[in-house]
Amino acid sequence: MKDKITGMEQEALAAVAACSDLKLLEEIRVRFLGRKGLLTDILRGLATVSAEERPAVGQAANLVKESITAVIDARKALLESALEDKQAVEEAYDWTLPGRCVPQGHMHVINQVAREIIEIFGQIGFQVAQGPDVETEYYNFDALNTPSDHPARDSHDTFLVKPGVVLRTHTSPVQIRVMEQVKPPVAVIIPGRVYRVDYDATHSPMFFQVEGLLVDEGVTFADLKGTLMHFIHTFFGPHTQVRFRPHFFPFTEPSAEVDILWTADDRHGGGTKSRWLEVLGCGMVHPEVFKNVGYDYEKYSGFAFGFGVDRMAMVRHGISSISHVYENDLRFVEQF
Ligand code: DAH
Repeated sequence: MKDKITGMEQEALAAVAACSDLKLLEEIRVRFLGRKGLLTDILRGLATVSAEERPAVGQAANLVKESITAVIDARKALLESALEDKQAVEEAYDWTLPGRCVPQGHMHVINQVAREIIEIFGQIGFQVAQGPDVETEYYNFDALNTPSDHPARDSHDTFLVKPGVVLRTHTSPVQIRVMEQVKPPVAVIIPGRVYRVDYDATHSPMFFQVEGLLVDEGVTFADLKGTLMHFIHTFFGPHTQVRFRPHFFPFTEPSAEVDILWTADDRHGGGTKSRWLEVLGCGMVHPEVFKNVGYDYEKYSGFAFGFGVDRMAMVRHGISSISHVYENDLRFVEQF
């Protein structure tokens, strides 16, 4: 009988140790110690035990009952505190709240517009070319038919890096670098930063230009016009009115400035008003420029053009001050 009691104790202790659920633990208690449980069963057999053995067996049964009760209580306390921890965590978090979004950046408006311009010219066969921001005076001026005593140099307020070296004032020097490298036919579009000592609502000391150059046999001003009209109508809309105005640039002859008739929302006046806006400079490449790069100017002709990307972006998006474009205030940048 004592063996039976010890066996039951082992079984009960193993069951409690393996139990990780309060409901199961209660079932174990009932199974071993309940009124109809295994211990009660065993004690019913006490009647068959001899009178002198009975006290010892009874005592053993009581000890086993105490030991099983103790492990069940300890296990119960453990499981209850684990349950409380779990509930505390669940209450601390509101799993139904919407998640916090990680802010996502995007391309700056200048890059968006520059890519769009490159895309438009890319579709009609222009390839992208690039050159250095720090440029020699030769490429920035002399090779472009602008010698040091030329009055046109004064209109570019130039950052001087050291004698003979400048921050390029326009993307035109890349025309020279391209033509030094390749023979005609040439059709390139040249985006890049340019620098001038100039700062007000419409000027920034650093800004973006896009330059274009096309050279081949038999290129005429009509090709220049057709190309630029195609660009303007694609970029500003198919009904945009365009005006070519005679102008002077040292590196083109004849030269022109191009205006568009732009209708901006007049929010304060409640109506709309149109005005001519200058958007780019262009012309037929000057024979002196061809001479400087070793092109045969009797055989080849070409056109070139240049404009500010910032200006294009400002006109199209109605941006009033160029400083907005470069201050990178998120409230501005995020609008595009
Ligand atoms: N480089 C000129 C500027 O920055 C713009 C320009 C005018 C570029 C006429 C050209 C051109 O290629 O043909 O003001």
